Amino acid sequence: MALSAVAAPWLRRLAPETAHDAAIAALRYGLAGRQTIAADPRLAVTAFGRTLAHPIGLAAGFDKNAVACDGLARLGFGFIEAGTVTLRAQPGNPKPRLFRLDQDGALINRMGFNNAGIEPFVAALRRVDRSRIPVGANIGINKEGATPLADYPTLVRKVAPHADYIVINVSSPNTPGLRDLQSVDRLDAILDAVARETGGREAGGREAGAHPPLFVKLAPDLDEAVLPDLVALAVARGLAGLIVSNTTLARPADLASAARGEAGGLSGAPLFNRSTRMLARVRLLAGERLTLIGAGGVANAEQAFTKCRAGADLVQIYTSFVAQGPAVIGRIVAGLGGLLDRYGCARLSDITGRDADRLAELAP
Ligand SMILES: Cc1cc2nc3c(=O)[nH]c(=O)nc-3n(C[C@H](O)[C@H](O)[C@H](O)COP(=O)(O)O)c2cc1C
Repeated sequence: MALSAVAAPWLRRLAPETAHDAAIAALRYGLAGRQTIAADPRLAVTAFGRTLAHPIGLAAGFDKNAVACDGLARLGFGFIEAGTVTLRAQPGNPKPRLFRLDQDGALINRMGFNNAGIEPFVAALRRVDRSRIPVGANIGINKEGATPLADYPTLVRKVAPHADYIVINVSSPNTPGLRDLQSVDRLDAILDAVARETGGREAGGREAGAHPPLFVKLAPDLDEAVLPDLVALAVARGLAGLIVSNTTLARPADLASAARGEAGGLSGAPLFNRSTRMLARVRLLAGERLTLIGAGGVANAEQAFTKCRAGADLVQIYTSFVAQGPAVIGRIVAGLGGLLDRYGCARLSDITGRDADRLAELAP
């Protein structure tokens, strides 16, 4: 069946979540083929203590239960993020909960962390061949009965032996109250609890490295005034970095698709400026102290390059992968090589944050 199993055309005739489930099944059972991405050596990046052939990764939420990681690795991603996984299995919101906004190059989702829970996730992750590419684990809390100060540390401890990096997700818009955990005090308490549970680094204290590099994923709707304190906290707590960003609750006035009024997080093209602006602001605040993963609206090489100029060390895609199929990975990677020539860069990492000043002023 090769790549057509997860390529866009026939899947796009199905309801969005049916198409997603079909793609996951094809990837899981080895029916999605293999794609060799000839990455220019100048695109190689070091992150999570590993060398990645190129910086284009799959964002969280596609492989929530980590069952398709090997199939996704065969498509040529530079890295993959599985999850979001919660402690206990939960069904998520009632369907329909995923909507295509074709005229806008966007999706709206209100999945609500549908997942099978941490035990199957860890069992699946344990079987993944991570020698090929790094795999991250994105963790969140249940809609009901959650205790963030206990749940995040437990989740970190459980995924730690099986992941190259861990993402604390406090930014999905579909779990009531989750985004409030982005306040400096509440995030500090979570990171402190994680450090205590794992023997990791406490504020200004020791660094035991009991878990892989830790990231926090931010919402693009945060008040920019909190960014300095959040970045300072990330550095003080020894985070490896930040992911900027998750989906937005904003609805740009020019959205044209019928589904634009659906509740949930908006991803894809209309998120690009908003998330890139915030990424640039975070880079200006962090300097070289954090690894930044840029996500939001990347559908081609120019946009991936702009994320890097704004400050991204690595770039993630989701919506464009759904819309264009696996070929988007090769298109972006090939295009990045050409852009390096045009800009006269010896390595992609030379341009990280080069235009952060200007891109921090993008109109969201
Ligand atoms: C259907 C769907 C489900 C998602 N689920 C998650 C999730 O479980 N955890 C998470 O951190 N982000 C999730 N995201 C957000 C993506 O990881 C990404 O941050 C966002 O879509 C922006 O990237 P994009 O514009 O390339 O799609 C989801 C996005 C979509 C479209």
